[in-house]
Amino acid sequence: MKTIDLSIKIGFCQLDELSEDEQHLIQTAISATGNSYSPYSKFRVGAALLLANGVEVMGANQENAAFPSGLCAERSAIFAAQSTYPDQPITLLAIAAANEYGLMRDPIVPCGACRQVILEIESRYNQPIRILLYGTSGVYVIDTVKDLLPLQFVGESMK
Ligand code: THU
Repeated sequence: MKTIDLSIKIGFCQLDELSEDEQHLIQTAISATGNSYSPYSKFRVGAALLLANGVEVMGANQENAAFPSGLCAERSAIFAAQSTYPDQPITLLAIAAANEYGLMRDPIVPCGACRQVILEIESRYNQPIRILLYGTSGVYVIDTVKDLLPLQFVGESMK
């Protein structure tokens, strides 16, 4: 059997190496962690996205006593943005998280379901979304969600 080598490269940098827009969006994601409703996990996730029209939209994880009824921060932000601005591509997405001790040192990455939803938005607008994953130790910079989902299932896959 042959093997197929799928390799990815992601960036790692400090906040001050990012553009002003990117730094601002990360600050918005950090402040969105304060809007998390997470009495069960006590893990506060904040997401912030920038639309092509320049509007920033926030999201935070929303939990529920019936666990699967909750929603991650990323999808909360994406669905709110697309519900309000259905024609606006998302250009940038920032994510931050905190536990009971404060902001996480290592960046957290979107869960599989959120990756799939981000992929649908990239595919819907035919435009990559730059993803900034914030940790107090630095920021992972990812140019497209395809780097987090190397084999992708999209609408085209069914044709
Ligand atoms: N969570 C997010 O909001 N985003 C992620 O990417 C990972 C997990 C939330 C879901 C749940 O409220 C808590 O973090 C613990 O899993």
